[in-house]
Amino acid sequence: MKDLNIWMNGKLVPQSEAVLPVNSAAVFYATNVFEGLRAYWNAADDEVYSFRLPEHFARFRESMKMMRFTIPYSDLDLYEAVRTVLSGNEVKEDIHMHMCAYVTGTGLDATTPTGIYINPRRRPRVAEGAGLKCCVSSWQRTADNAIPIRLKCGANYQNGRLATLQAKADGYDQPLLLNREGHVAEGTGATFFMVRKGRLVTPPVTADILESITRTTLMDAICPELLGMGVVEREIDRTELYVADEAFLCGSGYEITPILSIDKFPLGDGKVGPITQRLTRAYMDIVRGVDTRFPEWRTPTYRPVRV
Ligand SMILES: Cc1ncc(COP(=O)(O)O)c(C=O)c1O
Repeated sequence: MKDLNIWMNGKLVPQSEAVLPVNSAAVFYATNVFEGLRAYWNAADDEVYSFRLPEHFARFRESMKMMRFTIPYSDLDLYEAVRTVLSGNEVKEDIHMHMCAYVTGTGLDATTPTGIYINPRRRPRVAEGAGLKCCVSSWQRTADNAIPIRLKCGANYQNGRLATLQAKADGYDQPLLLNREGHVAEGTGATFFMVRKGRLVTPPVTADILESITRTTLMDAICPELLGMGVVEREIDRTELYVADEAFLCGSGYEITPILSIDKFPLGDGKVGPITQRLTRAYMDIVRGVDTRFPEWRTPTYRPVRV
């Protein structure tokens, strides 16, 4: 499979040419903000649809605002950049992309100059019927007034990296992070949902989590409108994890990834639960455009589009 070219500052370039200076704040302090997004191949439409681009651009700009830097591109430019990276690579498959704005100035307080790249990547998924063995991490989710997780910058992911390395060393697939209050926050790069007593529950946006676009998609539309189930947004205690009937992580990258056990307590019968299965089907049909509702969420690549 050939390497995909990267869109960098207005041009498609081979991966070997997409480089940053070693003394830049981007390399040394990880002074960047990014989005992880997906585009889906729909064979019947002969089209690749990017999912919820306006929401990703809005969060991208919120992260930049918190970091006090800007990019010389409008949302319209970003739309065209995403479509160019897909069409320029002749993408006709499901693709994950990182859109990253970075600072090439030096020093801790550098906010300029900024550059931007979009890196299209093939990202593996868990196989159907499979799921994760999770643990509760002894590393704590960083707090909003320390390193805010609402801000999607590369440096923040060192918290999740420490937790992941520990989880893997201990024989688990993925950690779940508690916040400073001891309540469940999220996974390292995904939002946490559980099913308890027939209800879907997820932590609030004030629980030291990223304001996830997938979470909003599930809470505002897919669960109530397509499955007829509301989502309860509330704090979750650690011990609730052990007695949950089902749980999953969700996100643009993770999509809906089932959790089969937590700290070796099997959830339900230890297999992917029925609500998680129904949600996965409904979510995948929407993002791919097999279910044609919510057309405003899918930006085509090859057909002209009115923004
Ligand atoms: C820390 C973190 N939480 C949650 C998510 C899920 O967010 P989204 O659904 O917007 O991809 C992500 C993925 O970007 C993430 O990195």
